[in-house]
Amino acid sequence: DWNMPDYIAEAVEKIREQVGGEEVILGLSGGVDSSVAAALIHRAIGDQLTCVFVDHGLLRLNEGRMVMEMFAGRLHAKVVHVDASGQFMGHLKGVTDPEQKRKIIGREFVEVFQAEAGKLPNAKWLAQGTIYPDVIESGGAKSKKAHTIKSHHNVGGLPETLGLKLLEPLRDLFKDEVRELGVALGLPHDMVYRHPFPGPGLGVRILGEVKQEYAELLRRADAIFIDELRAADWYDKTSQAFAVFLPVKSVGVMGDGRTYEYVVALRAVETQDFMTAHWAELPHSLLGKVSSRIINEVRGINRVVYDISGKPPATIEWE
Ligand code: XMP
Repeated sequence: DWNMPDYIAEAVEKIREQVGGEEVILGLSGGVDSSVAAALIHRAIGDQLTCVFVDHGLLRLNEGRMVMEMFAGRLHAKVVHVDASGQFMGHLKGVTDPEQKRKIIGREFVEVFQAEAGKLPNAKWLAQGTIYPDVIESGGAKSKKAHTIKSHHNVGGLPETLGLKLLEPLRDLFKDEVRELGVALGLPHDMVYRHPFPGPGLGVRILGEVKQEYAELLRRADAIFIDELRAADWYDKTSQAFAVFLPVKSVGVMGDGRTYEYVVALRAVETQDFMTAHWAELPHSLLGKVSSRIINEVRGINRVVYDISGKPPATIEWE
């Protein structure tokens, strides 16, 4: 059993020794790992750290605001908020292939990040929230197979192109240790115990072509689903839960009128390792409540379905 205050003190000392008086840049994604890395490094070197938060327009509802409030507002860290949604949407226009979409989002991300890094010529270090399982995975044969099935884009591939030294203070930690550390550093429980969110974000949860209009509908439907899961104490019992936007229209009735609107699928899974997963047996009453809230509150969606596919043969994401 590790002693958290001692661990933090040691980690802080190590970062200070490594970095000295030099400046560090970190890509903040809103995910657990980059958030905890940012909080730890900020504790160690304060304003020598600049976080770059790239909003690709494919984030969840209020995600950008929450990240800014936490890091800039509460921790007083230096955070550059880049709204690149126009640029990402532009490049995704007309693109329907999932792997192509991932490639474009990954490439644009590197480009935007690189441009921001270029504005910080004094930065000598790139900090990343790499954790122990990532270290093993990037060397293992298992990951190669996973990557050929779906290319997973995080903030990979940056250091070579940037010519920066790598700072990875979470390299020795497992996920639950990273979470404990995050809480000890003062990050909110909900941020630290959040479900994983893919790097390409809603880009792979809007099937086919990504459009601003679809992203807006999906964000609102997804937020309702997550709200209700939390309210019913089901959030922590599922490993990942989200809504998926289906760009097909179906007929419905509302009042005296006929509607012809989009469909949203709900996905909730239980898994240990994300390699295999079971669909979560959510109570019908909960599903019913989520469905009627989405249909009543999100104009443009008139039908909600629940995904009861296991992995394998289905994947967790729909793309
Ligand atoms: P699948 O859909 O392959 O997902 O069953 C397994 C886990 O990986 C996540 N995932 C991604 N994460 N970039 C990411 O950072 C991606 O392109 C990506 N695709 C899938 C997915 O959310 C699930 O946790």
